[in-house]
Amino acid sequence: MIEFNNVYFSYKNQPVLNDATFKVEKGDFSFLIGRSGAGKSTIFQMIYANIFPSEGTVNVGDYITKNIKEKDIPNLRRQVGIIFQDFRILSDRNIYDNLAFILQVTNAKKKVIKKRVFNVLSDVGLVHRQKSFASELSGGEKQRIAIARAIINDPPIIIADEPTGNLDPETTQEILDILIKINKRGTTVLFATHNYDLVERTDGKVFRIKDSKITELNTQSKF
Ligand SMILES: Nc1ncnc2c1ncn2[C@@H]1O[C@H](COP(=O)(O)OP(=O)(O)O)[C@@H](O)[C@H]1O
Ligand SMILES: [Mg+2]
Repeated sequence: MIEFNNVYFSYKNQPVLNDATFKVEKGDFSFLIGRSGAGKSTIFQMIYANIFPSEGTVNVGDYITKNIKEKDIPNLRRQVGIIFQDFRILSDRNIYDNLAFILQVTNAKKKVIKKRVFNVLSDVGLVHRQKSFASELSGGEKQRIAIARAIINDPPIIIADEPTGNLDPETTQEILDILIKINKRGTTVLFATHNYDLVERTDGKVFRIKDSKITELNTQSKF
C-alpha cells in the first residue's frame, strides 16, 4: 500500500532521507518511530504527494508519486486519510459541519451525508457531540473527531502523524484503540510517534528512522 524504494530527500542542505526503503502492506498496522526532527513528517508529506523524492520512488496504492499527474493528486489523497498532532478542526463551524464539509465536495446527497456522519461519529463514540464546536471539546475528543474526518471517505490507508503527541497516557490509549479497531476492519494504518512505550506494548511492524536511514525493527524484541 505504501512503498518507499531507495528514496533520497534533502531540504536545502539538510539531508532527511538517504536511500530509504520500506514497505507497508495492505492491512498492516505499522509504526514509524524516530526522534523529533528525524524525518517522520517529511515521509508523510511524501505519501501525500506534497513533496517528492529527489531520487527513488514512493508508491501509494496504485500511484507512483513521481509520475503522478497534477489532476490525479486529489485522487491519491482520497486514498489516504490523514490525522495530525494538532487536530486541525475548523473552529468556525460545528462538528457536524466539519465532517459534512468533506463529503459536500464530493457532491454527496444530504441524506447520504447525514448517515455517513452519524456512522463515523458512532465509530469514535461522539454522536452526542455533533452540535459542539472544537473549542468545547477536550484534546482526546478533538482527536477522535479528526479520526472520524479521516475515515469519512472510507480510505484504504490512514496515516497518523504523532496523533497522541498532545494527549495524556489514558487518552493516548483510547486513540490507539480506535485506530486498531479501524485497522481490524481492513484499513492499512501507518502511525508515527516518538513514544516508544506505546510501540512496545502494541502489535504491529515497526520502522525506525534514524540518521536518514529506515530500518524495520524485530518485533519479537522491539528494542
Ligand atoms: N520546510 C522545511 N524546510 C527546511 N527544513 C525542514 C522543513 N521541514 C522539516 N525540515 C527539517 O527536516 C528534518 C526532518 O523534519 P520532520 O520531517 O518534520 O521530522 P519529524 O517529523 O520526525 O520531527 C528536520 O531537521 C527539520 O528541521
Ligand atoms: Mg513531525
